[in-house]
Amino acid sequence: SDFDSFLTELPKCEHHVHLEGTLSPELLIDLAKRNNIKLPEEHPPTIEALYDRYSKFSCLQDFLDHYYVGMSVLIYEKDFEDLAYNYFVKAHQDGVHHAEVFFDPQAHLERGIKLTDVVSGITKARTRAESDFGITTKLIMCFLRHIPSSDALTTLHAAVPHITTGHITGIGLDSSELGFPPHLFKEAYATARELNLELNYTAHAGEEGDHTYVLGALDDLKVERIDHGIRSADDDATLKRLAANNTLLTVCPMSNLKLRAVKSIGDIPLRKFLEYGVPFSINSDDPAYFGGYILDNYKEVHKHFNFDLATWIKIAENNIHGSWINQDRKDVLL
Ligand code: HPA
Ligand code: ZN
Repeated sequence: SDFDSFLTELPKCEHHVHLEGTLSPELLIDLAKRNNIKLPEEHPPTIEALYDRYSKFSCLQDFLDHYYVGMSVLIYEKDFEDLAYNYFVKAHQDGVHHAEVFFDPQAHLERGIKLTDVVSGITKARTRAESDFGITTKLIMCFLRHIPSSDALTTLHAAVPHITTGHITGIGLDSSELGFPPHLFKEAYATARELNLELNYTAHAGEEGDHTYVLGALDDLKVERIDHGIRSADDDATLKRLAANNTLLTVCPMSNLKLRAVKSIGDIPLRKFLEYGVPFSINSDDPAYFGGYILDNYKEVHKHFNFDLATWIKIAENNIHGSWINQDRKDVLL
């Protein structure tokens, strides 16, 4: 439709995509062959079976169990470069001008992969994509909340060389939310802040957890942004605080549907966010697992909300303002 081309052309920024979640069944099977990795039996061995399994996640944890097995095919620097470059190609096709991407260092370190191989592979892909497409990109390392926070600190120290060189510029928090509240990672975030080095801070909160996880991320971790954050809508004071501080929520509609955080994309409280003046962006999260990339997410939102042009333009502006880029780059995108 006409609106599809409007949404394609709309300058988009992606703020919530896990590079490991862009590992398509096709690339997964290719890399398993290339690296001679035998997948465990419960992990389907064919492209079709993988797509079928990915269409039936029951919750965040059910997805994560596949996500961590899937990434076991990522071994060499080149694997990470291929993974990230493929994502940037797709993002560019979808009209993304700026992408801030997550990765999970601990998920690779615990498999004996060197952090340098992971970061340099991703960095090579970023450099190529920036020169091939004019896209700008940032790399955010996430702590895994199901692993004791002492390991997050160890990982942070291991990452210092990559932070110093500017290859990693953000800190995030992801994985299983329920039972792992933000305050567990207070020291890890505080330590990063002491190291400073101009890092930006975000955390997943309010995906399956209630609004107290969002408040915890703001109070204990002092994040500038909240990943997902949809459950903020259950609490008036939380919404008002997000609006007053202009805190961006990085919402992932197809992810919320696939992981059953909502029954329908129409149930995501986007109208409430607009009403309260809480800025949000629309993102793909783990596009290879959830059936669509960022443009698919924009189209799904339009299907369910039928926003007018002015609203879409406002969303696009909020996206740009909420990006971790300097004013010169914002002016180019606006
Ligand atoms: N939530 C938490 N952890 C994750 C996600 C998510 O949506 N994707 C990858 N790791
Ligand atoms: Zn996520």
